[in-house]
Amino acid sequence: MRIILLGAPGAGKGTVAKLLTEYDGSIQISTGDILRSAVKEGTALGKEAKGYMDRGDLVPDELIMKLMEERLQQDDCGKGFILDGFPRTIPQAEALKQLLAKLKMNLDFVVNLEVPRDVILDRLTTRRTCSNPDCQEIYNIKSNPPTPDGKCKKCGSPVIQRDDETEEAILNRLETYQEKTAPLAGFYERDGILKNFESIESQETVKKIKAALG
Ligand code: AP5
Repeated sequence: MRIILLGAPGAGKGTVAKLLTEYDGSIQISTGDILRSAVKEGTALGKEAKGYMDRGDLVPDELIMKLMEERLQQDDCGKGFILDGFPRTIPQAEALKQLLAKLKMNLDFVVNLEVPRDVILDRLTTRRTCSNPDCQEIYNIKSNPPTPDGKCKKCGSPVIQRDDETEEAILNRLETYQEKTAPLAGFYERDGILKNFESIESQETVKKIKAALG
């Protein structure tokens, strides 16, 4: 499959993407995960991105497009991909359209995950993430807890709260989403490839996406 997952911070993009990878071997490409790994490893990209991320601002489009142009041409993308957290602005969506045309790739469709704001706020304050950059498994102390001593069930590393999970950064991320990313739904609706999914139960959402893929 080749799909984009749109949705507010905390809508469950990462959770749904990980479940979808079991469907047909398509890979999850999360710009957030790639950037957090770069920050942890202290690369030039990570150093440049960290300030934006900690405040809950978007990383500049040029940096993201450079990263994604390289990523989408790697061999493992041949199996299909689930774009999680990209594109996030109209310029990124336009650049992606050109890039996919150049690579002769079509999208199946764009999934827009719709989740009420109160549910989102609750999920973001209770999320925990595996600290291992190669794992980054997502947990939630209410709906999907890690081990009782706070370790990842997959790789055993400690789970942590992300640096952008302060109340101030969460509110800024939600505002930034409304201003810069929510307009992408209209962009893809005009292209005739948008599908909206009310997403309270991730497994149910995944079933509906698989049904839409046919
Ligand atoms: P990114 O990592 O993409 O963060 P985000 O969009 O803010 O999304 P989240 O990861 O917070 O949420 P999610 O929708 O994946 O939800 P999750 O599945 O974890 O980006 C981080 C930063 O990187 C950005 O702020 C920006 O600075 C930068 N960046 C990234 N991409 C960029 C780009 N393209 N351009 C510019 N800058 C970029 O779920 C949330 C919680 O809810 C979890 O605890 C989970 O367990 C729980 N949960 C999920 N589903 C359910 C459910 N159905 N029931 C109960 N609990 C659930």
